[in-house]
Amino acid sequence: MKHAGIPPHGGRLVNRLSHGAERDAEEHIARTAPRIVLDAWAISDLELIAVGAFSPLEGFMGKDDYESVLERKRLANGLPWTIPITLAVTRSEAEKLGEGEPVALTDAGGRVLGVLYLEQKYRVEKEREARLVFATTDPTHPGVRRLSETGEIYLAGKISVLHRPEHREYQAYWLDPADTRRIFQQKGWRTIVGFQTRNPVHRAHEYIQKCALEIADGLFLHPLVGETKSDDIPTAVRMRCYEVLLQYYYPRDRVVLGVYPAAMRYAGPREAIFHAIVRKNYGCTHFIVGRDHAGVGNYYGSFEAHRIFDEFDPEELGITPLLFDNAFYCRRCGGMASAKTCPHEKSEHLILSGTEVRRRLRAGEPLPPEFTRPEVAEILAAAFGGEGGG
Ligand code: ADX
Repeated sequence: MKHAGIPPHGGRLVNRLSHGAERDAEEHIARTAPRIVLDAWAISDLELIAVGAFSPLEGFMGKDDYESVLERKRLANGLPWTIPITLAVTRSEAEKLGEGEPVALTDAGGRVLGVLYLEQKYRVEKEREARLVFATTDPTHPGVRRLSETGEIYLAGKISVLHRPEHREYQAYWLDPADTRRIFQQKGWRTIVGFQTRNPVHRAHEYIQKCALEIADGLFLHPLVGETKSDDIPTAVRMRCYEVLLQYYYPRDRVVLGVYPAAMRYAGPREAIFHAIVRKNYGCTHFIVGRDHAGVGNYYGSFEAHRIFDEFDPEELGITPLLFDNAFYCRRCGGMASAKTCPHEKSEHLILSGTEVRRRLRAGEPLPPEFTRPEVAEILAAAFGGEGGG
């Protein structure tokens, strides 16, 4: 029997992609409207709103939602939401734009991507936003740094996308929420577990994914491919790693690989909730949250991203988090384990993390098979050997 799939956040999958006569009319509006140029981050947010990944958002947040997200981790209507989705411009740019007027949104080359129906302009509260979203005002935190570099005024209002951004790589993996929902349905999956990552998949990731696959119908491997901090491993390299891993180590008919074009916020626990809600919009029923999800440095406790789920009723989130303890390789167990399953001394454990993978690669140290599958290690070694000039 067919089943409808999990409802999107707020009940309806948003679609702000403009077509046909509507697009012609909006093209006309965009030609005469004042313009603002979006950076890569804002372009990805624009597109994610348009395709419904950020449902129920239909545009960039107004002040009520912004305040409410900061203070209550909810939209003004009470729906859980933890990360502001906002569009910042400089004061002088904002002065040229009138509330109630449309604004053309372009890329750096001047190509019109969409229209913002400007409803409101309001001040960015940088210090307060940093403290509440990132739990720090340390300017070396990548999210705080980004915030300090953006304009002082947020523009709010519904958006419409006329032309999706160009230069798509990984075309086959560019799946919108409507696509993944259809694919999951075609496969007859009732339970789908989503996995967020900004790293090549190492053995700890593989272990928790496969634990989840033992109980779910399918896995949606959904690496984030938007902006990340400069020392994270480049997307092109990561995509090759995912491909070989799926080819050699996963049952092909139980995994869907798709790219998640959002920017990484590094907001730890708040981003874990956000990541889960977004994956619900893509059709996932379950979402993996492991150790220090979306963390950076030592800003968040290892399991704060688990505890934040207690602040919400399971029904209002809709998607079920699968919370995993720190996974490691244990020499005595002869396999992957966690403190929940392994009785042995710490000295028997090989601790796996994306940070450690990057450290070893930079130091030219090999990645042992307990750490990374050899086919993946080969791609990483080649990529980094090349970059380092041998
Ligand atoms: S993230 O910033 O995208 O969250 P990463 O790609 O490292 O970072 O992690 C992807 C997911 O795997 C996250 O849910 C994270 O908590 C989890 N994870 C990473 N390493 C481990 C580990 N050693 N043990 C358990 N979970 C882990």
